[in-house]
Amino acid sequence: MADSLELFQELIAPEGREDPYPIYAALREQGPLVSLGEGHMLATAYEAVDGLLRDPAFGVEEGGAFFEGSSLLRSNPPDHTRMRRLISGVFTARRVAGQRGAVEATTHRLIDEMCSNGDTADIMADFAYHLPVNIICELLGVPEEDRDWFRPVAQDFTAVLEATFEPDDSAAAMTAGLTLRRYFAAMVEQRRAQPEDDLVSALASERVSITDDELLANLALLLIAGFETTTNLIGNGLRILFDHPALAAELLLRPNDFVEEFLRFDPPVQLTTRVALQDTVAFDRKIAQGTYILTLIGSANRDPKRFPDPDRFDPARPNNTPISFGAGAHFCLGAALARLEAQVAFPILLQRLAGLRPTGDPVRRPRLVLRGYESMPVSWSAAHPSFPAE
Ligand code: HEM
Repeated sequence: MADSLELFQELIAPEGREDPYPIYAALREQGPLVSLGEGHMLATAYEAVDGLLRDPAFGVEEGGAFFEGSSLLRSNPPDHTRMRRLISGVFTARRVAGQRGAVEATTHRLIDEMCSNGDTADIMADFAYHLPVNIICELLGVPEEDRDWFRPVAQDFTAVLEATFEPDDSAAAMTAGLTLRRYFAAMVEQRRAQPEDDLVSALASERVSITDDELLANLALLLIAGFETTTNLIGNGLRILFDHPALAAELLLRPNDFVEEFLRFDPPVQLTTRVALQDTVAFDRKIAQGTYILTLIGSANRDPKRFPDPDRFDPARPNNTPISFGAGAHFCLGAALARLEAQVAFPILLQRLAGLRPTGDPVRRPRLVLRGYESMPVSWSAAHPSFPAE
């Protein structure tokens, strides 16, 4: 039997990135929490990933080379608690639910644009990338005319979410980070003078409990955290549907169950990381302060102890609570928004683009942490106009 380190090396090699699931299964055989040698561990089982993410003995690595250094994702209590309270007070369920109309309208507009170009498209570039960017820009208050240059800049910046990103990405991410910082700094100043009904105005008015540096870091995080991830939820979900064509009709009856099962079966964020903030014991193992742990979300979601017959795609799965948005203090702030976008977009796509199907092999992005496709060529047999309600 291969040891844990060999399996981990397989996981980060190109074949592992292509299909990590068999390697996760072999890693789970080694235990819920396995050592990779001095100072490094992997959480493989659902209970271990969930338990560690909720355990205050573990925290995130603080700071970082980029200006996202003071964001939620890179801070621990008490700073995290203070900023999280403030931001979640502004980025509320009501504000998210209020975007439903915008999500529907954007979905229809993007489909109209795809149809005006014929009956083929790259559903990643022409649809899945645009929907989340437009919606988060709408929420933040980034005007339409800025969104075209915004997307590639923000795209480069997503490299900071990747734990093991390449040196080339890091230079691009640095430049993008500075560009975004300048953009948001100007926007914050403008909104302080003339507030509007958007997230930037709401956050910019809170000068007491958040510094300007923290504010800019979190605005950039809110922008980027939501779009490559949600893009990949749409792309990964479509790929699953293409592999199970008989299920498409059922999606229209229970879109929310399908979205949960897409999230479980091929989660857009495959892993996150934690550091032991103190000496501690978890799952019968002594863990020294400073130990670095990769919590394998993609593996937890296929743990047969939590999800019977885990490699079967089954939207009717009872008690389906995948850990795709994390758990505990850093639970995804955008989970409701991401779910809303997918729950709205899938049924409209399937209803309007009859016979939607792949016309070639999709091209995967070679990343391990953010799992998704670069391109996915599709065609359809007939396009239906948007619903009369529009
Ligand atoms: C399908 C789409 C998405 C997935 C799979 C996803 C996944 C995650 C995960 C796993 C975490 C926890 C990271 C950790 O514990 O280290 C997280 C945190 C976060 N997500 Fe998402 N996310 C998605 C969409 C979004 C959207 C749409 C937004 C915002 C508009 C967003 C904003 C955030 C923020 C701000 C955090 C940090 C929360 C904190 O540290 O307190 N995410 N996300």
